[in-house]
Amino acid sequence: MLAVVLVGGFGTRLRPLTADLPKQMLPICGVPMIEWVVGHLATHGVQEVGLSLGYRPDGFLNAYPDGQIAGIPYRVAVEPEPRGTAGAVRFATDEFGVDDTFLVLNGDVLTDLDITDLIEFHREHQAEATIALQPVPDPSRFGVVSTSLDGQVKEFVEKPEVGRAPSNNVNAGTYVLEPSVIERIPSGIEVSIERETFPELARAGTLYALSSSTYWLDTGTPKQFLEANLDVLLGRRLRRAELPPAHLDPSAEVVDSVIGIDSRIGAGARIQRSVLFRDCQVGAKASVINSVLADSVYVGEGARLEGCVIGHRQRVEKGEHLIAVKRPDE
Ligand code: GTP
Repeated sequence: MLAVVLVGGFGTRLRPLTADLPKQMLPICGVPMIEWVVGHLATHGVQEVGLSLGYRPDGFLNAYPDGQIAGIPYRVAVEPEPRGTAGAVRFATDEFGVDDTFLVLNGDVLTDLDITDLIEFHREHQAEATIALQPVPDPSRFGVVSTSLDGQVKEFVEKPEVGRAPSNNVNAGTYVLEPSVIERIPSGIEVSIERETFPELARAGTLYALSSSTYWLDTGTPKQFLEANLDVLLGRRLRRAELPPAHLDPSAEVVDSVIGIDSRIGAGARIQRSVLFRDCQVGAKASVINSVLADSVYVGEGARLEGCVIGHRQRVEKGEHLIAVKRPDE
């Protein structure tokens, strides 16, 4: 089965981490996010991946020049301009030529979802499209879905006002689609699958959804990106990662943090609930708390960072204090 993975967004909420790289090339415990996504698909029988690209396609092409990601062959469709989530599916499937049931995924969602189950459910119900749902405490930031007992979608409401959501099951960003869905998406323009295609399919009575409670995280904000790293580190996922060797002074204190390859942590420094990409340098007695540091960031002696997101090659000088007014969750 083919999986079309949407990875063309600008990732503005993760700037400056996404200033040079697409979001899905950012590391989760040292492994690019796209490898986590594709590796999971491979465990559910996906044989080919179609990357739907827009922003920084070179980020993927340079990293995987042999045409494989996590051992799975991939093709690419590069949009001339952003087409939105449904427009991207239309553009990519026109490029790839699709004549059988296929999967579509938001490429910035990390999940242990049982995709095999979802496909079986889709086939049993002879659905035209099936959405994976995830129950969440506050559904107001998501596409909220209510279904009848057999899973037929009655209502699909994108980002309802607080207290107005018809259920707490939200669109988890994994879909099983029949090729007929492609015909419903106008070509050459921006179209949203959440706001246009799904409501149309719900009205036609051919949209189904299956809820399951499993590991699931949308990594779109710095707080969630940090969480995604800590979830792997602390063993909350099915798959684990081997952490690369880092150079820690024996008197440095590292708590719940991911230290990237070739990074160096000086004497008496403290790193807590943070992610450092590769080749960062943290000086003696500096502290980095609740922060994300991109590749080759320099933090001088005694500097203090709290709730910060620091871009590639930036320097925080000796003794500087950078304390975010808000935590990095917006
Ligand atoms: P923000 O700018 O921070 O909102 O991030 P984003 O651009 O990634 O948008 P969002 O998180 O809503 O996107 C969800 C998924 O769809 C991500 O995997 C994006 O890469 C992808 N995506 C969003 N818009 C497009 C688009 O126009 N084309 C393609 N191919 N993918 C898209």
